Amino acid sequence: MSLAEPSLRGDVVIRNLSKSFLLNDRRLSVLSGLDLAIRPGECLVIVGASGSGKTTLLRILAGLETADFGDVRIDGRPISGVGAERAVIFQEPRLLPWLTVLGNVMFGLEVRGRAKADAGRQARHYIDLVGLGDFADAYPSQLSGGMAQRVGIARALTVRPEILLLDEPLGALDAMTRIAMQQELARIWRDEAVTMILVTHDLEEAVYLADRVLVLPRQKGAAPKLIDIDLPRPRDRSEVQFVRLRETLLSEFGLH
Ligand SMILES: Nc1ncnc2c1ncn2[C@@H]1O[C@H](COP(=O)(O)OP(=O)(O)O)[C@@H](O)[C@H]1O
Ligand SMILES: [Mg+2]
Repeated sequence: MSLAEPSLRGDVVIRNLSKSFLLNDRRLSVLSGLDLAIRPGECLVIVGASGSGKTTLLRILAGLETADFGDVRIDGRPISGVGAERAVIFQEPRLLPWLTVLGNVMFGLEVRGRAKADAGRQARHYIDLVGLGDFADAYPSQLSGGMAQRVGIARALTVRPEILLLDEPLGALDAMTRIAMQQELARIWRDEAVTMILVTHDLEEAVYLADRVLVLPRQKGAAPKLIDIDLPRPRDRSEVQFVRLRETLLSEFGLH
């Protein structure tokens, strides 16, 4: 007899994952033999040189791409295609221009058959959460880049995913907006208790947000590295340990 296990939601286990692409006549190995376990509620940030396979890994987790070998399980179940427990946020939010902010955020719930009034209530909650309460009736063309990306985040959260997959979500924003949005993401992650897997090329962003950083190697065949970011939250970018960890990451890229 055993006590009931607490249900762990948003648990990701990757075993011996390999992926290659056929490029003309050449086979290009992108990921090889990757092992990784992501804890429920963890924030894992993926960094790596351009072309190191960050987007490919995220797309496999999203179910948009299949692996050549290996096993990816979410809450113990193998991935097959996209799933309601995962939401993806890309660099461009790709909002529907003919719908308002509210309409865009409700859309995913309505597609899932949720009643309009109920979908509207839930959408408004997440529009408020990302600080756009006054803009629910605005159209995408009336929003700044940062606001549009907030709508994208609200839209993803509204379907209550266990896992949020983000591919350079703040990459198109100016530096000031990006810092404000990093703070928002940290707060949302804490409040929603969602597992967050985020790709970025911004090492400061990685140290600001991550529990652990996965560094994908530049040379194929080299092993990826996992770096613990064991800093209290909310994090202070000027604090000695913060700066030191950012330098540790920089040195992974041969930079100082
Ligand atoms: N559908 C595809 N067909 C062929 N090659 C691809 C495809 N997707 C990605 N690649 C190649 O795989 C490598 C990794 O791509 P990607 O995962 O997008 O890298 P990153 O996001 O780290 O910049 C790149 O060399 C890219 O050209
Ligand atoms: Mg990419």
